[in-house]
Amino acid sequence: MMPDLSVNLGELQLRNPVMVAAGTFGYGLEYQDIVDLSRLGAIVTKSLTLAPRMGNTPPRVAETPAGMLNAIGLQNDGVDAFILETLPRLCEYGTPIIVSVAGETVGEYAQVAERLSRVDGVAALELNLSCPNQARGGMEFGVSPELTAQAVAAVRTATDLPLIAKLSPNVGDIVPIAQGAVQAGATAVSLINTVLGVAVDPKTRQFRLASKCGGLSGPAVKPIAQYHLWRVRQALPETPLIGVGGISSAEDAIEFILLGAHAVQIGTANYVQPTLALEVVEGIAQYLQVNGFESVEAIRGVVY
Ligand SMILES: Cc1cc2nc3c(=O)[nH]c(=O)nc-3n(C[C@H](O)[C@H](O)[C@H](O)COP(=O)(O)O)c2cc1C
Repeated sequence: MMPDLSVNLGELQLRNPVMVAAGTFGYGLEYQDIVDLSRLGAIVTKSLTLAPRMGNTPPRVAETPAGMLNAIGLQNDGVDAFILETLPRLCEYGTPIIVSVAGETVGEYAQVAERLSRVDGVAALELNLSCPNQARGGMEFGVSPELTAQAVAAVRTATDLPLIAKLSPNVGDIVPIAQGAVQAGATAVSLINTVLGVAVDPKTRQFRLASKCGGLSGPAVKPIAQYHLWRVRQALPETPLIGVGGISSAEDAIEFILLGAHAVQIGTANYVQPTLALEVVEGIAQYLQVNGFESVEAIRGVVY
């Protein structure tokens, strides 16, 4: 018998637990010729801001021994262009569309969310809390429980859509931040975004990124993501969690589910193998079958 891959994250129901992560799969449509988008658990778009953004000056990507460092700087077309041009075409695939919301102020998060909640076709919002906060000299919202709660509460007031708070790993203790997000109205938590880092080129004697500092992703960050997920899961056992960070195989995804993730997201690995998310779906089904489990839920959280 085929195992049941469906998962429920509160009001958000998915046919399988595998999503593509924000910013690593464009808006989704870019991949429509090579990936059957209708078989993904969900598509998370790149983060959208109120106005279009060009992003940072290149070079803004650097390869590292077990991953990559990026400082794209939230390049996007702006929420209105997305709603008008991209969303209607994405919806044709029947896959839940989770729109990633970014902002440099609490008000910007709320305005982007409000516009997205006025249209059909958005299944949920994911709040990118790794954005630089204008009012605090560029400090990430997600490093403070108060700022996190403020951003989530403002978006909660602006929309009834399911709300996923995507946490930053660049903190000492992630638990109060996750608690702040949930108390302010987040219905699920995804973790993690990229880990702050720099890279230096000894040939040019310069930083490899024009903005000097960037976010590390890929296999190197998997244990960090799993650590944070494990801790949040202990503190908030009722909150649906989405694991993201360094997933490059079905086994990696299964590890996150064993640790308590309801769903997973594939990020940097899309650049290596664009069809990986679909292979992960198949790999999870195979693992369940071979080991005699009837559903994803049967293995969720068995490692604690
Ligand atoms: C090039 C690039 C762009 C990204 N853009 C976004 C983004 O727009 N919004 C967001 O929330 N996360 C963004 N991320 C973070 C990823 O969604 C993910 O959280 C992180 O890379 C860890 O997962 P991974 O190791 O599987 O890539 C980006 C990551 C990369 C590598």
